[in-house]
Amino acid sequence: MNNAGIAGPFPSTFESETVEQWQRILSINVQGVFLGCKHGVPAIRGSGGGSIVNLSSLAAFLGTPDLSAYGASKGAVRQFTKTVAIDCARKGYKVRCNSVHPGVILTPMGEGILPSDKARERMRKHIPIGEFGAPEDIAYGILYLISDESRFVTGTELVIDGGMNAI
Ligand SMILES: NC(=O)c1ccc[n+]([C@@H]2O[C@H](COP(=O)([O-])OP(=O)(O)OC[C@H]3O[C@@H](n4cnc5c(N)ncnc54)[C@H](O)[C@@H]3O)[C@@H](O)[C@H]2O)c1
Repeated sequence: MNNAGIAGPFPSTFESETVEQWQRILSINVQGVFLGCKHGVPAIRGSGGGSIVNLSSLAAFLGTPDLSAYGASKGAVRQFTKTVAIDCARKGYKVRCNSVHPGVILTPMGEGILPSDKARERMRKHIPIGEFGAPEDIAYGILYLISDESRFVTGTELVIDGGMNAI
């Protein structure tokens, strides 16, 4: 499970984003996932096989004008996940790799992006299900992807977002 990630400062448009911010976000969000896979795959193979889950975001599918580096980083995680999945499958490694794409979840990161009640209410109206997700909503999706019940699932994207990506 490659979960670690950062976002912000919010807002950061492509015009206001600094090179230092850009590099920091891509270093943690993308290079972190790269290293997790690079070193995780041999370890998982050595233990008989298994499943990697990379935390991407709904941001991988949409423009994110106020989170420019973050959106780019999550798009990279989405694509890189497929590369690892296909490479492992073709080489006969018993390692699956999938990405999970949360919508808006009120963790410390989510709260940082929605600092006021007004901002939250505005965002809530964009969620078809009408409420924010909880960390458990994401955890249950991950549980499926790391279980043997998903043995035929690799290189795909599990979006858990209350319907936002469908509109
Ligand atoms: N909260 C959301 O709405 C949301 C939406 C989409 C995707 N995500 C993704 O879900 C994942 C988890 O986010 P969260 O909402 O729990 O955020 P969070 O800020 O609550 O937690 C992020 C975690 O990553 C760790 N971390 C950050 N940088 C690290 C580093 N360099 N080395 C080791 N650990 C580091 C932090 O210590 C923290 O425990 C992230 O990849 C995030 O991008 C979150």
